[in-house]
Amino acid sequence: MNIWTFEHEEDLSSTGAGIIASLLQSKPRAVLGLATGSSPVGIYRHLTDMHQRGLVSFAQASTVNLDEYVGLPEGHPESYRTFMNHHLFQHVDIHPANTRVPDGNAADLEAECAAYDRLIDEIGPVDLQLLGIGHNGHIGFNEPGPSLVGGTHVVELVERTRQANARFFPSIDEVPAQAVTMGVASILKARQILLVARGADKAEIIHRALTGPITTECPASLLQCHPNVVVLLDREAGGLLR
Ligand code: F6R
Repeated sequence: MNIWTFEHEEDLSSTGAGIIASLLQSKPRAVLGLATGSSPVGIYRHLTDMHQRGLVSFAQASTVNLDEYVGLPEGHPESYRTFMNHHLFQHVDIHPANTRVPDGNAADLEAECAAYDRLIDEIGPVDLQLLGIGHNGHIGFNEPGPSLVGGTHVVELVERTRQANARFFPSIDEVPAQAVTMGVASILKARQILLVARGADKAEIIHRALTGPITTECPASLLQCHPNVVVLLDREAGGLLR
């Protein structure tokens, strides 16, 4: 694993954006696996800025997002589709049809999960998968447990995840109880993984995920099995390493 620690958040975000931009420059048709949450926001801001300065184009790229809440109405301000439109897609030249986010309102969620896996197989492999990490070690919404699921599936969000995400909703009662998430096998199929974590509250889980045992009780620890992972941390998130 390649672990880089930054003093300033801006440097972390511009480095992450630079890695994605270089990929798009060398491979305009790249498939990007994208994440939501607070961790990638700075990277998306830098990518937007680079696009506006003519330094990067998404015109031929495709994206697949990791996850989506179940049951939020279309256009809900906290849906992950809205998040991606707001933070990246509407600011760059990506073709809307080439941006994929699981449909958390599908009448048949099982069929939606199977279709999402077929889509990843068709357009993949993902060239670069951007990831954040939950306080419990989740990646996507693959929550810790005695086992994990390989493909896209419906997951019950654990209380800690709902509490962490309640900051974006008027109250915790409005945080959905379920999500559709890409599974760990799909995530690990990406050619390169870019894991981003910021803040002292991520220090312990980053330490566990990168240096502890590989276990389904910490899904991010499976990244230790991947041959091409870059980890971008701020000083606080990297505080317990070495
Ligand atoms: C988001 C996702 C989640 C988040 C994680 C960290 O698409 O899949 O795994 O990356 O919950 O969230 P933040 O970045 O808000 O701390």
